[in-house]
Amino acid sequence: MSKQPVSMILGTGSAAPKKVLTNFDLEKMVETSDEWIRERSGIERRHILEDGKTNSDLATEAAKKALEDASLTAKDIDAILIGTVTPDMLFPSTACYVQAKLGAKNAAAFDLSAACSGFLYALTIADSFINQGDMKHILIIGSEVLSRWVDWEDRATCVLFGDGSGAAVLGPSDGKKGILSTYIKRDGRLAHLLNTPGGGASHPASHETVDQKMHYLKMAGREVFKHAVRTMADAAVHGIEKAGFTDHDIDLLITHQANVRIINAIGKRLKLSKEKVFINIQEYGNTSAATIPIALDEARRGGRLKDGQKCLLAAFGGGFTWGASMIQF
Ligand code: ACO
Repeated sequence: MSKQPVSMILGTGSAAPKKVLTNFDLEKMVETSDEWIRERSGIERRHILEDGKTNSDLATEAAKKALEDASLTAKDIDAILIGTVTPDMLFPSTACYVQAKLGAKNAAAFDLSAACSGFLYALTIADSFINQGDMKHILIIGSEVLSRWVDWEDRATCVLFGDGSGAAVLGPSDGKKGILSTYIKRDGRLAHLLNTPGGGASHPASHETVDQKMHYLKMAGREVFKHAVRTMADAAVHGIEKAGFTDHDIDLLITHQANVRIINAIGKRLKLSKEKVFINIQEYGNTSAATIPIALDEARRGGRLKDGQKCLLAAFGGGFTWGASMIQF
């Protein structure tokens, strides 16, 4: 028996900076090659936010498109939730800046930190807020400016990440369409494999933390890869089963876009044909919490995801965090 949905996606939007950095550009910056990056990760380009703009600018652009798609205005929004690990500032939240830029005068606003799983965590919270009945329309956003956190001299990380933002408006289900399952988990014992150690309470910013490059993102790529495949595949299976379906019922799989080899491994585990697995990592690289909402928006607008179809979202990220959600469109 499948669950009766409480909330549904009313609209989506996304935004990417105009400036593009190709693998060939990176060949001139660090010792790497277009061939290595494409073969190991599937990435060809990434978008980089111009100086003078910040995360909340990108998030606001994506949010405006999602509101327009939902035929709502900013005043209709009861809460703004942003999954991000690259906020405008440590505080106040990036969501507060977006609230002001949108003029969403009735909205509560907060950020949540779940790295690449941030959008799925936001979706889960928004679904449950709507279920409680106090809120009707919630703007959920995954938005990142990772270009400001990567060490552009470290070839092991700088080739992988990019900037972007994706948003969705959640509202009450019409009884047919909506969120059929949500599933979120974590294992904080593995935090050391993917983090930004400097600038927080553990290592407050100092000349020493800057000299040691502790304010940059650090990742044990090979180990993260193994966990990503296993936990995202397990999450996907839980997401399907919680919704009361099997892998045959999936029309489109959208996973976190960190590496094309990880995405294909999940598709294989669920025995999905290539047409049912959405991939856009070649264009954006890993935009952390933004990969899933950007992909969702592109899939809807590009006709890959149509009314009547079921989409499975699956994420994995620093923390470690992971999760999945089955959605009826
Ligand atoms: N160009 C050329 N060579 C490189 C580069 C580069 N950019 N980077 C690393 N290499 C070299 C390494 O030094 C290594 O050389 P060695 O064998 O002489 O030591 C070799 O290439 C292989 O390196 P690996 O790290 O083993 O390569 P791998 O096949 O594992 O791919 C990658 C690396 C792409 C990072 C992969 O491990 C990966 O995708 N990991 C998961 C990332 C992920 O899922 N992150 C999720 C969350 S992100 C978030 O939450 C913010």
